[in-house]
Amino acid sequence: MADYTSQFSIRRLWIILCVGMVVMFGALLFFGAQIYHSKPPMPGAVRSASGHILYTGEEIQRGQSVWQSTGGMQQGSIWGHGGYVAPDWSADWLHREAIALRDSIAATEFNALPEPDQARIGAILKHEMRTNSYDPKTALITVSDQRAAAIVATAAHYEDLFTNRTPADQHLRELYAMPQHAVLTRDEAHALGGFIFWTAWATAAERPGEKISYTSNWPHEPLVGNVPTGAIFLWTFLSIFVLLGAVGTLVWYYAREFDVWRGDIEPIEGFAQTDLLRAVTVTPSMRATAKYFFVVTAMLLAQVLLGIVTAHYAVEGQGLYGLPMTEYFPYALTRTWHTQLAVLWIATAWLATGLYVAPLLGGREPRFQRLGVNFLFVSLLMIVIGSFAGEWAAIDRRMGTGAVNFWFGHQGYEYLDLGRFWQIYLFVGLLLWTLLVLRGLWPALKEKGGRSLVFLVVIATVSIGLLFGTGLLYGEHTHISIMEYWRWWVVHLWVEGIFEVFATAIVSALFVKMGLVRVSVAATSVLFATVIFLFGGVLGTFHHLYFSGTPTVVIALGAIFSALEVVPLVVVGFEAYNRAKVEHQHDWQTAYRWPFAFFASVLVWNMVGAGMFGFFINPPLALYYMQGLNTTATHAHAALFGVYGMLGLGLTLFCMRGLSDPARWSDKLLKSSFWCLNIGLAMMLFFSLFPQGLYQAYQSYTHGYAYARSAEVIHGPVMQALVWARVPGDVVFATGVVAFAIFMVRALFTRDRRGDANGTPAPATLPLAGA
Ligand code: HEM
Ligand SMILES: [Fe+2]
Repeated sequence: MADYTSQFSIRRLWIILCVGMVVMFGALLFFGAQIYHSKPPMPGAVRSASGHILYTGEEIQRGQSVWQSTGGMQQGSIWGHGGYVAPDWSADWLHREAIALRDSIAATEFNALPEPDQARIGAILKHEMRTNSYDPKTALITVSDQRAAAIVATAAHYEDLFTNRTPADQHLRELYAMPQHAVLTRDEAHALGGFIFWTAWATAAERPGEKISYTSNWPHEPLVGNVPTGAIFLWTFLSIFVLLGAVGTLVWYYAREFDVWRGDIEPIEGFAQTDLLRAVTVTPSMRATAKYFFVVTAMLLAQVLLGIVTAHYAVEGQGLYGLPMTEYFPYALTRTWHTQLAVLWIATAWLATGLYVAPLLGGREPRFQRLGVNFLFVSLLMIVIGSFAGEWAAIDRRMGTGAVNFWFGHQGYEYLDLGRFWQIYLFVGLLLWTLLVLRGLWPALKEKGGRSLVFLVVIATVSIGLLFGTGLLYGEHTHISIMEYWRWWVVHLWVEGIFEVFATAIVSALFVKMGLVRVSVAATSVLFATVIFLFGGVLGTFHHLYFSGTPTVVIALGAIFSALEVVPLVVVGFEAYNRAKVEHQHDWQTAYRWPFAFFASVLVWNMVGAGMFGFFINPPLALYYMQGLNTTATHAHAALFGVYGMLGLGLTLFCMRGLSDPARWSDKLLKSSFWCLNIGLAMMLFFSLFPQGLYQAYQSYTHGYAYARSAEVIHGPVMQALVWARVPGDVVFATGVVAFAIFMVRALFTRDRRGDANGTPAPATLPLAGA
């Protein structure tokens, strides 16, 4: 009977992968062009029926720059993308404007009116708010005088808030965790109001010829008739249907092939009897990566500290136990640094692993490799320090709102907050990293047999660099729908595409190198996994764009393809079982106990954090109510730390075996670290973040999205109690981080008795080829 080796030969898998990627990326680009054509129009001006100009197009665009320079998505959110303590500004404006207009139509206390009158007024309100009065010929949005008055009233609220005019504003700023002293000028505040108005307008104004708004009726707002569209329901249930079918098929195929597969796992020469990596010479460039791992540890510590401060702002808006923290390190800044550091330390751990592993897999030290590794290190430090300083200065209102801020301050877009100059510098750094890794891997690419596996590591490496470059495809004034499209090319295609491939390929390559898995099996399984990840992941990008001013097709494709992403994540038990089988065969493997343990927790969190918490918010109907609630924070922590953070720590420990003296390792510290990190993360999620998310989701279903994000809910007794419930989990988690840091400092600063200091590269002990 034909088995997996003939059905999915390496050659065939490569063909499937290449053809698939052309089709998938073709579709991603094609539908990206559709977003371009159907995005909400930027008007030349917004005016009242009697001719009063409320906002000009330039003011709205300038408002976007102002918003970015204040930290943008780090302080509240627009269209559901951003921070959680301040409101979603679009939804908040929509709600306030609707109430103002409703009261003006009622001309008396609305709630005192008989129900039929309320219903009649509600219908007039909906009609007024949903009517799309944008005229493409004149580029004017014209609103009734009555609505214009409601807009002016809402704008006044915002302008007061942003300029911190009255004690009431000061109080609200405290609840929103906004700094008191870093206020906008009246002019900036007016422009920012215009931008927020326009994002709110697009959530209710119906698309020409359709009955749904530009944002597919997001956010849920009963006042203006914003309820889920038919397409949102349809694609939700179809995505669940497809997911179940695909999981069933994969489980069936695994079951069928399992016996053949298991027989094939053992390397042809048998499982390694000794630690093959002990014989590998640690070359000068490999040794030079030690400082990267030190910096990884320092950044992880800083990230956790900033996380604790950021979380604390949710209960005490202006300070830390009475200290006036906001004046120096306001919420938007600590959240910026917290999220940027998450990306940076994880990336640094991987970059360093790539640099460490490349000569190890390639079997020789390329010339000047150490110089390159050291140069890249200095660049990374400069990028971190330079971009962080710029972000601080921007939020402290020292960078203005124009080009200087865009290039050196704060771009305001979550995960890509750093100024454009630093973004370009980082891109160049990543390209340099790619080059350095490729030089190291080059000899392994020429060997027969293991080529596919090494080639996948190469492709993943190159793609990580190139995808970051797509974040340069929007500019300072780019329409927000288009900016979002490219931003998610970086963030989503990294974490749900190429990082998965990199993680699988690098761990498999190491297992092969250690003589634990047969190279042909590793190559087939990594290729197979790559096909599955990328077939779902590429078009899955659209799950971030359901409600960003995109056409309905984005909801359809996003829902179906991102459901497919979940398929490999719910069957990780298969991989875990296989690995456990080969990991504990010989005594020498106990030396790798902790790196292996971290790799195993990657699998578990992939299922829980990415698979379960990811899918929980993923169907369009779920995300319609939950985008930007704490259900997202739950998923982000479980997936980003659980999967890639744990992987970064596992890889760090793996490399540290060659960079330090394992005989002196403290098992106790690593054990405490491992368990505290895992248990602490679980406590943080299940005692605090997830219940917060569920409570907010309930408010969103029942009363509307703006309410779920309002100060009333966020600072209500339930949410406040749940924020405090973080403390035990945070303490356990932080203990794990501190234990890891102590371990690292001890390991790095005690003298190393192994390794070859004169840098003579040893031949690879087990070539990837030939098995
Ligand atoms: C290890 C893989 C993954 C990582 C590291 C990851 C990480 C993240 C991060 C950092 C965010 C942004 C959170 C924020 O804006 O504050 C996010 C959002 C999101 N993720 Fe994931 N994710 C992963 C896998 C998945 C999977 C498999 C799915 C579902 C199929 C998924 C669905 C979503 C959705 C729908 C959002 C948007 C939530 C919102 O806008 O409120 N993710 N993810
Ligand atoms: Fe995603």
